[in-house]
Amino acid sequence: MKMKLVLLAIITCVVASLSDYLVSASSKLTLSIMGKSNCSDWMSVLRLVYITELPPCPCTYSQAINDDKFILSNFLIDYYHNGAANCFRAPSQTSLSESGQQCCYGDDGNILIGIEQNGGTADAYSPDGVKNFGRHIWYDVLPWVACCELGNRETCEIYYQFRPSDDCLEYRGPVYTN
Ligand SMILES: *[C@@H]1O[C@H](CO)[C@@H](O)[C@H](O)[C@H]1NC(C)=O
Repeated sequence: MKMKLVLLAIITCVVASLSDYLVSASSKLTLSIMGKSNCSDWMSVLRLVYITELPPCPCTYSQAINDDKFILSNFLIDYYHNGAANCFRAPSQTSLSESGQQCCYGDDGNILIGIEQNGGTADAYSPDGVKNFGRHIWYDVLPWVACCELGNRETCEIYYQFRPSDDCLEYRGPVYTN
């Protein structure tokens, strides 16, 4: 029984790291085929969508898990938000915007903010459903690869300037109505 669990844990780790590796390799390949590996190639894309009307992030994991607006979404966070234990997403609260908030938390449950902590980043297009998934890749993911993974501190700062981490200072908690 114990052996099986250990084996399962090993397989899970291998598959998880392989998926990180595959995502990394395929997005880099995509950028190089497109000739858009430099962060500066993505400036117009980053500028094009103005992110607005996003709910502020809860300051802790327990606040987030208790707020219905926020949905736990840990897919590939080891790759995009290395060091985060959990990330949540919340779509824009107005129908006019298709952007989305992302909030990430460390092992201690506290929010992670900015480049140093690989904090959550607002998305121009929240990757909910099929409709926005492609646009999420184009407007949020590929620029991140070019600016943060392939770029340097300075270019990654540009990314976070356009796709910022929310610092949770405005968070007020869910409003319950009967
Ligand atoms: C990326 O583009 C900028 C501005 O055009 C340029 O200064 C920089 O050298 C380029 N970086 C690479 C790695 O090609």
